[in-house]
Amino acid sequence: EQIEKGGYKHFMLKEIMDQPNAMRNCLRGRIYQPAEAPDRWEIKLGGLEKAKEGALNPQSPLERMANACRFIFAACGTSWHSGLIGKYAFEKLAGVRAEVEYASEFRYRKPLICDSDCLIAISQSGETADTLEAIKMAKEHKAAAPSIASVGSSFDPKAELPQALTIGVVNVVGSSIARETDCGMYLHAGPEIGVASTKAFTCQVIALLLMALRLGKQRGALSEEMLNMYCAALNAVPDSIEKWMSSLTEQTQVISKNLRLATNALFSGMGVHFPVALEGALKLKEISYIHAEGFPASEIRHGGITLIRNFVPVICIAMRSDPAYEQIKQMVRDFRHKGAALLVLTDDGNTDFAGVAHFTLCCPATKLEMQPLISCIPLQLLSYHIADMRGCSIDQPRNLAKSVTVE
Ligand code: G6P
Repeated sequence: EQIEKGGYKHFMLKEIMDQPNAMRNCLRGRIYQPAEAPDRWEIKLGGLEKAKEGALNPQSPLERMANACRFIFAACGTSWHSGLIGKYAFEKLAGVRAEVEYASEFRYRKPLICDSDCLIAISQSGETADTLEAIKMAKEHKAAAPSIASVGSSFDPKAELPQALTIGVVNVVGSSIARETDCGMYLHAGPEIGVASTKAFTCQVIALLLMALRLGKQRGALSEEMLNMYCAALNAVPDSIEKWMSSLTEQTQVISKNLRLATNALFSGMGVHFPVALEGALKLKEISYIHAEGFPASEIRHGGITLIRNFVPVICIAMRSDPAYEQIKQMVRDFRHKGAALLVLTDDGNTDFAGVAHFTLCCPATKLEMQPLISCIPLQLLSYHIADMRGCSIDQPRNLAKSVTVE
């Protein structure tokens, strides 16, 4: 086991530090500059090009995705957080409606699904029971089957109905979700052993960004110029985080020492950084057993703010590229005023929080849509070091399973 940990104390730390590599593997062969036109970027998603043998609809998945009215992301836990980032990316980059659903909620309602919908099931393990069931529902088209009343007596409930396309975004090759979906993308993140998901999360975000960019091109939502700019930014992420990550260890250890005795912590972020705040809070409670909640920055004012008092850690994500950066800055000052132990996560070179935040962590800046890939990393490390200092069982937290295969 020591060998498998590659010199790291825990699998989780190894997997956090492996992210530049895992991201490169997820991008490899999918995003490239063609030899004949090296100033242009192309995205090739082989797993979405052909319909499965025997599929009712012979159109290629990409064609169906390009004409889809709506995307539904179904997932659980950390994978749900990448789904929320995916929703924002699909709306902004591909110009298409997208919703994100907790698979367990989706399957126990009567959601409206139609054959022009695409359901994207996101799962590291590919075995989560609720996510698997959400796929089956979309395939059976249960919820959108016309009622007998609406079609009269000619309706044959046994006749085959057109189905919503199901797409898997999965890490484990050959897993149930990979087999059950019509098509998909593997993450190629490598095995994830630590129960708390880290590198699978960032690779899920990469997979969804690749899909959003590919669809943005196909649906005409992105100009050639914009597409090239986004592709170049996405492709540069692994290199831009590699060096920075080695310097993060010491910084996050110092902050962790100060925050390790907390009983509650709040995480705030706006837009694409709201899911990062949720993920930061989930990581902290999963492995350190500190109660933590993530909020959309402004929403803290509608309740969470009552929890802020002296020494309560508040972790604010405040990038200068955030759409409401000025308002976030104001809120950060307000949290400080209320006594919070304030950690601000911002972009390199930003000195706006000097004298306001107790601690600042700076990230390399990229396009806003790609920024979660970078901003989640200091939060993973923070949780890791806090949990380690508290002597917690990091790779196997109490009561938590790597994959929930029971209903
Ligand atoms: C469990 C794990 C989480 C994971 C979630 C979804 O709760 O502890 O880390 O995010 O399941 O798992 P999946 O394999 O479907 O991504």
